[in-house]
Amino acid sequence: MTAIEGSTVRDPAALRAAMVRALRDQDAILSESVAAAFAAVPRHRFAPDAPLELAYDLHSTVPVKKDEHGLDTSVMSAAHLQAVMLEQADIEPGMKVLEIGSNGYNAALIQELVGSDGAVTTVDIDRDVVDRARLCLDDAGYGQVKTVLADGEAGVPDGAPYDRIIVTAAAWDIPPSWISELAEKGRLVVPLTVRGTTRSIAFDRDGDGLVSRSYRMARFVPMQGEGAAKERKALLRDGVALQTDDARVHLNAEALNHALDTPRLESWSGAAYDLPDELELYLTFRLPSPARLHASKAVVESGLVEAAAVLGVPALVSEDSIAYRTRRKNGETGGFESGVVAHGPHAEVLADQYLDLLRRWAQDHRRRGAATIRYVPGPAPSPLPQDTVLKRHGIVAVSWH
Ligand SMILES: C[S@@+](CC[C@H](N)C(=O)[O-])C[C@H]1O[C@@H](n2cnc3c(N)ncnc32)[C@H](O)[C@@H]1O
Repeated sequence: MTAIEGSTVRDPAALRAAMVRALRDQDAILSESVAAAFAAVPRHRFAPDAPLELAYDLHSTVPVKKDEHGLDTSVMSAAHLQAVMLEQADIEPGMKVLEIGSNGYNAALIQELVGSDGAVTTVDIDRDVVDRARLCLDDAGYGQVKTVLADGEAGVPDGAPYDRIIVTAAAWDIPPSWISELAEKGRLVVPLTVRGTTRSIAFDRDGDGLVSRSYRMARFVPMQGEGAAKERKALLRDGVALQTDDARVHLNAEALNHALDTPRLESWSGAAYDLPDELELYLTFRLPSPARLHASKAVVESGLVEAAAVLGVPALVSEDSIAYRTRRKNGETGGFESGVVAHGPHAEVLADQYLDLLRRWAQDHRRRGAATIRYVPGPAPSPLPQDTVLKRHGIVAVSWH
């Protein structure tokens, strides 16, 4: 938990005021309207069973429901992320807004932003969540927010078109309804997962498709129902797994596990390693045979796999070899240098391919501004152009200026 000033005081109003100050200090809240919404809505009333300190912690989620394995299927999102997404959404008084994924709190914030002339609908796939959100909304005085029980994959056609659609579960794709139910000048804010990494992307309509205005790394519970992600996972050994959603990538768990037991090849790019989120975006779109390598802390501490894999790191795989990014301190600059660790009979080939991308990024793209992400619905061109990722309903394309 991140302590906020005032968190020792057990007065919700003081905790809320401290939360707003801290969200401003951390540049999560940028506008007066979002600050006023956070100051107005009693967050703890949407987490009645949670300790006050947890409800008002900036970076903590509050559990709402878990599945049979103990994994969260519903949470009240962290205040910091909610603030970032509401700023991305740029909601104005009088707007019609659809929220996909309910808890009640974020919908109440949106109701504050649209005011009495606007309209807010929130939809959730889980009856328990909808019932709970309804009770909390009514209890906190937000009876005008409409709650709907449905799979958000189809949107909520009844209230369309919406000026804003805000998705609050990690989406693997953008179904046609989220574009068709958006007003001509509408904006969709969605945590979109591309090759294992989720970014909250603010998309504006661009003809039949969408173009990004901003994006930020984000973590969310996954979307359930019709649009749920279908990713393949290969467990190489206890604490080491590879994951991919690219149909062209074959994960041979036995051969790749064997590769990890062969001596590691470590190669250095000579290029700076910084802006990791931007580099990751580049790598995930450019790697020709991409997967994501995950390793537990215990495996990292054993020295087998580098620390980058604890949060998941873009990897390049072949049938029997693997390469992934690492970094080391650069004594001269005080920063870091990027490098590659590779294993297996084709370690050198994969390492060279990976190093080439690290150098290209440093030379052509690093510190040249944010990328633009587009969503182009409909059948994908064949072959797929460079810097695009195939989804079910269209393609995601990224470009750098
Ligand atoms: C992070 S929670 C939502 C947080 C909420 N917006 C808040 O105010 O804090 C994500 C929610 O998405 C819901 N969800 C998952 N898949 C869904 C789908 N296909 N349609 C609608 N809701 C979905 C889950 O049931 C869960 O309640």
